[in-house]
Amino acid sequence: MEQLLNEMTLAEKASLLAGATTWHTAAIERLNLPAIQVSDGPNGVRGADDNLGETSVCFPVGVAMGATWNSDLIEQVGAALAAEVRVKGAHVLLAPTVNIHRTPLAGRNFECFAEDPYLSGAIASAYINGLQKAGVAASLKHFVANDQEFERFSMSSEVAERPLHEIYLEPFRLALEKANPWTIMSSYNKVNGIYSSENDVLLGDILKEMWGYDGLVMSDWYGTYSDQVPGGSLDLEMPGPARWMDPAKIVAAVENGDLDPALVDDKVRRLLRLVERVTADYPLPPRADGQLTRQVATEAIVLLKNEGDLLPLNPDKPQTIAVIGENAQWAQIMGGGSSQVNPHYIVSPLAGIRQRVGEDVTVAYQIGAPIHRLAPLANLDWLTAVDGQQGLSLDYFHNLDLAGDPGHSGIVQKTELTWFGTVNPLVDPAHFSLRLSGTLTPTESGDYQFHLWSIGRARLWVDGQVVVDHWEEAGDRQTTAAVSLTANQSVSVKIEYITEPEGKWRIVRLGCVPPLPADPIQAAVDLAARADVAIVVAGLTREWESEGFDRPDLRLVGQQDELIARVVAANPNTIVVLNVGSPVEMPWANAVPAIVQSWYGGQEAGNALASVLFGDVAPSGKLPTTFPMRLEDTPAFINYPGENGKVYYGEGLFVGYRYYDKKHLAPLFPFGHGLSYTQFAYDNLRLNGDKFTPAMRF
Ligand code: BGC
Repeated sequence: MEQLLNEMTLAEKASLLAGATTWHTAAIERLNLPAIQVSDGPNGVRGADDNLGETSVCFPVGVAMGATWNSDLIEQVGAALAAEVRVKGAHVLLAPTVNIHRTPLAGRNFECFAEDPYLSGAIASAYINGLQKAGVAASLKHFVANDQEFERFSMSSEVAERPLHEIYLEPFRLALEKANPWTIMSSYNKVNGIYSSENDVLLGDILKEMWGYDGLVMSDWYGTYSDQVPGGSLDLEMPGPARWMDPAKIVAAVENGDLDPALVDDKVRRLLRLVERVTADYPLPPRADGQLTRQVATEAIVLLKNEGDLLPLNPDKPQTIAVIGENAQWAQIMGGGSSQVNPHYIVSPLAGIRQRVGEDVTVAYQIGAPIHRLAPLANLDWLTAVDGQQGLSLDYFHNLDLAGDPGHSGIVQKTELTWFGTVNPLVDPAHFSLRLSGTLTPTESGDYQFHLWSIGRARLWVDGQVVVDHWEEAGDRQTTAAVSLTANQSVSVKIEYITEPEGKWRIVRLGCVPPLPADPIQAAVDLAARADVAIVVAGLTREWESEGFDRPDLRLVGQQDELIARVVAANPNTIVVLNVGSPVEMPWANAVPAIVQSWYGGQEAGNALASVLFGDVAPSGKLPTTFPMRLEDTPAFINYPGENGKVYYGEGLFVGYRYYDKKHLAPLFPFGHGLSYTQFAYDNLRLNGDKFTPAMRF
């Protein structure tokens, strides 16, 4: 490494301090120094970003991994993800996320393991060890106090020293001690007035000096803000090309004595160490299969309530089961934002239940309460590509007017295509157009709501008619159009799209909502009343729980509370399954006999749920975060979200369960709560003395 460093010119060194592309570091061909490829993370590996790229394994999200409390299992997840990273030609997984569940409203809580720093650090260490033992670098993120999305690019988290160390830094410190992540990602926010990426107390004094960190610190994407960056403790500005780590300016600053060359060397050395680490020879672990994703999803499920032993259900008894809820059909298997992957497949709760019970049990479905913010993606079962395969045919053109023969073509099994940078030379995101085409075969007759979202120019044809036209005016536009269709009569669908050359992020997305009953809640209540058991899959979607914004409150969106109350009134054998990544208020909790928390469970979510509901597996998940009675009870309530650019962490150390204990405030379900199907009995308890001191309070 030292030899390589010595051979480098100053300009070459300076060229390494920022990424070369959105997902690559810079290479130096003259010295055979390769570019390193990074990929999100954390519940899968997005890899190539051109929508024709490979699909990814999709594990349950971070909070679900936290709910397993099983670090051995999470180490296996890390290893499986490492295999996925390597197969996709990448070297660094931008994961795991160990920010703390300070407020249950935070948009990215689903991605973070826990409200408790020890649990978070333990699960993170296992994950990192799994990755790095297979030669793939982790990027532990986001360093630090990035615990809300509100004003995330400018907010200063004002944290006193003790909670900063004992709560917010602690999962990072533990992970460093137990797993030494090869990279760390700084956060977008400020900490005590100074941006994390420029915060030398955090990155310099604490991370590198006090903890002796020898890895590389990269910025979060576009999370660098001033010309303080080159002289600070950040090693790599991402993504590329450079903004503040401008090579020419760095060379000039060193030459005129404004920048210490030893500091540049230190940053380069850390990058070279990373290259050395991720290019060394490690055995390739097996890629994840359905079995491992299912095991994690199953172990994550928390049985919150089970009055009268309503669960497990008997799968062999002929009966009628009413399955209700938008998420039962359109499974939400991950949260929103940069952590999304294109999963290999999705088993919805409805499909999982149907598959488990077989023919003798009637499983009937009603949506109950529509909850989507964006129309759900057009159902793949309805779509046939031009050559007869499931999905749509996709033709890419390397021009801005769909001219000539396509540059390349393929079949996509999704109707949401996005571009944010690229790792695949097939598509220049700033210069392409495309056509998606195929047929749609509806399963019911009635009005289908087609929804087109495009950033760029786009138009949608159904059955030969233009029904949405975003062609004349480019930009970020969404339009819904109703089209009347007849069951089993196929119609052609076609979308043409031209990229937005100036944009950073682009999308073309086709949603399609099938006909809804006139009164969806009443239809669900009627179904429940006729059934032996009702299972309501309630929840949020990745459009409600996402990176980029926080939730406004703790309520289930739409009319789900009313739906649940009315379904349980119609059928006392009602089970509520919560498909959410963080706590929700449950005004119906007393009335409902069984409540199951299933998180965002990854590709096997539906099978995992069915195996718990029907008793193939005894539930063993425990809450990694407190479920409060109401938002007003939560520790950060008074200070969240902050004002005038500052959010005071006024609850100090009393984060999560520490706060509820201190205040003797009963939560709805406490941290660590989780029932099983086994009965535990304690008896014959005896005291070992007759004098006792008062219980210690803190
Ligand atoms: C997120 C990171 C992510 C990065 C790259 C950022 O917006 O905060 O967690 O790794 O984008 O996609």
